[in-house]
Amino acid sequence: MMKKALVLNGPNLNLLGTREPAVYGAHTLADVEALCSEACTKQGYALDFRQSNHEGELIDWIHEAGEAFASGELVGVVLNAGAYTHTSLALHDAIKGAEVPVIELHISNVHAREPFRHHSWISPVARGVMAGFGVRGYALAIAGLALLAQAG
Ligand code: DQA
Repeated sequence: MMKKALVLNGPNLNLLGTREPAVYGAHTLADVEALCSEACTKQGYALDFRQSNHEGELIDWIHEAGEAFASGELVGVVLNAGAYTHTSLALHDAIKGAEVPVIELHISNVHAREPFRHHSWISPVARGVMAGFGVRGYALAIAGLALLAQAG
């Protein structure tokens, strides 16, 4: 059975390409999906790519990922939680509870931006953190999931 990698995108990432292109670049979310698909093919994974503007939906998906990871169907999650990164204790608790490896991802280098982006509720429960590599960071994060899976 081909294992799956789950890529979750949070609020406002549907606007990628038109939203603050100086910060996030000109690539659309569809471009990011294509890039993730290519990265997954390289690793022999199937891609499950989603976006939601709703915190609860992201939480439901993390729970679902926990079950899929436990049953061996899923290698892990790449999560760009958008601004929920900085606000969501509920997402923190969901990741902790689901016991699924999560790579926190940001297109921009959040640490070089406004101070309110420097704190993350995701980082303490993430297996790894990726920030500042533009949309190519998604491909790096998928390679990172594969690396972690091989290392055990
Ligand atoms: C982001 C950084 C967050 O601070 C911001 O709220 C986003 C996108 C990034 O990908 O760089 O929505 O997660």
